[in-house]
Amino acid sequence: MSSKTSTVTVDGTSAELPVKEGTIGPSVIDISKLYSQTGMFTYDPGFTSTAATESKITYIDGDKGILLYRGYPIDQLAEHGDFLETCYLLLYGELPTAAQKADFDYRVTRHTMVHDQMNRFFTGFRRDAHPMAIMVACVGALSAFYHDSTDISDPHQRMIASMRMIAKMPTLAAMAYKYSIGQPFVYPQNDLDYTSNFLRMCFAVPAEEYKVNPVLSRALDRIFILHADHEQNASTSTVRLAGSSGANPFACIAAGIACLWGPAHGGANEAALKMLEEIGTPDRIPEYIAKAKDKNDPFRLMGFGHRVYKNYDPRARIMQKTTHEVLNELGIKDDPLLDVAVELEQIALKDEYFIEKKLYPNIDFYSGITLKAMGFPTSMFTVLFALARTVGWIAQWSEMIEDPSQRIGRPRQLYTGSPERDYVTLAQRG
Ligand code: SDX
Repeated sequence: MSSKTSTVTVDGTSAELPVKEGTIGPSVIDISKLYSQTGMFTYDPGFTSTAATESKITYIDGDKGILLYRGYPIDQLAEHGDFLETCYLLLYGELPTAAQKADFDYRVTRHTMVHDQMNRFFTGFRRDAHPMAIMVACVGALSAFYHDSTDISDPHQRMIASMRMIAKMPTLAAMAYKYSIGQPFVYPQNDLDYTSNFLRMCFAVPAEEYKVNPVLSRALDRIFILHADHEQNASTSTVRLAGSSGANPFACIAAGIACLWGPAHGGANEAALKMLEEIGTPDRIPEYIAKAKDKNDPFRLMGFGHRVYKNYDPRARIMQKTTHEVLNELGIKDDPLLDVAVELEQIALKDEYFIEKKLYPNIDFYSGITLKAMGFPTSMFTVLFALARTVGWIAQWSEMIEDPSQRIGRPRQLYTGSPERDYVTLAQRG
């Protein structure tokens, strides 16, 4: 604990506030006693300068473009490990031994099936229902099937619920995709690895044997690693806030999925691909760059900019490399969308507006091109983001539940509404 303090003085009233230092990164001023000492709140809509929690899971240095999961750089994890290894690391805090990895893979694999009555939820949806709407509904509904793992005070039940969430997200995501194209659901197969199992559940048909392409499976597994966690982003903060009331983990993850859906957050991968399709050809890029810079135009370059990264998103670099790998494997020599994306990036990165505002491509800029090439429809892009981020949400939720100082999250406000006034009857209102 640092002995440093920070003093806040307003109208002669001072509060001496402790400073807490982390392992790396910015220190914090602990303002929890500010209101009791000064009668004032801090004000920070969007939390641009506010740490909502202490965490040991993920660290981002936005200026240097660094992302660490439990201290390990994202590029090393993406290069050397697989997604379930990353899941183990995020949940338990250490890389697994061979025996621990084998046991973890075995446990996850044997939770991949969903209750067969889940199938009935799907028939209530139109075929063209957005799969994210289906995921919010079905993941929330899981709490109706697993009462035995909603006692969040029991660590064993919390771990079972964590396994169930990580294992069942691919199954539900594949079911949402199959339902949208009118094909029968494909059950998980226990002799396949996590991501190969997911690809088979999405693209296999009963009429013929499905052969997993190992290059595509490896690429998608790496994409899942890149999306697994990201500190206190909007959807993770939503999961933590929902969990702080004691809500069950399935309901909390459903809340996280709902928040991720927004185009400013996880919905950006779908929006970025639609933007590239709308631009269509490189010669139309200047028109869209001008729109993005026009204060009176709400248009933004989707897949560009980030609250924390004021340098290149390290995930975007790996994503770009993976895009080329997948297109080469699929024999896609000249993808017009990729041409537009590469040209758009080069123009934007040289443009004064983007340089001054430190706007770089983020993870969502290239992911859509890759996923589309793999055969996923645009509407499934954010579902895949949610599939991968589930482990991050669960790890952050568990950390919050296990924090002895944890209390229900209840922000205050700056009230600028009407002062107290007496009721006026209808007759008196004229
Ligand atoms: C994700 O938080 C996370 O970690 C999220 C995420 C994760 O893994 O969980 O990394 C995943 O959500 C990535 C971000 C995906 N979203 C998009 O690509 C949508 C497009 N980007 C923007 O909407 C925006 O950049 C945000 C939402 C990502 C960040 O918004 P901020 O931090 O609130 O920044 P801002 O809106 O205050 O923008 C600062 C300035 C503004 O101009 P001024 O008002 O200062 O003049 O930059 C401009 C903005 O207008 N700006 C953009 C822009 N992004 C910001 N201008 C044009 N195009 C853009 N994309």
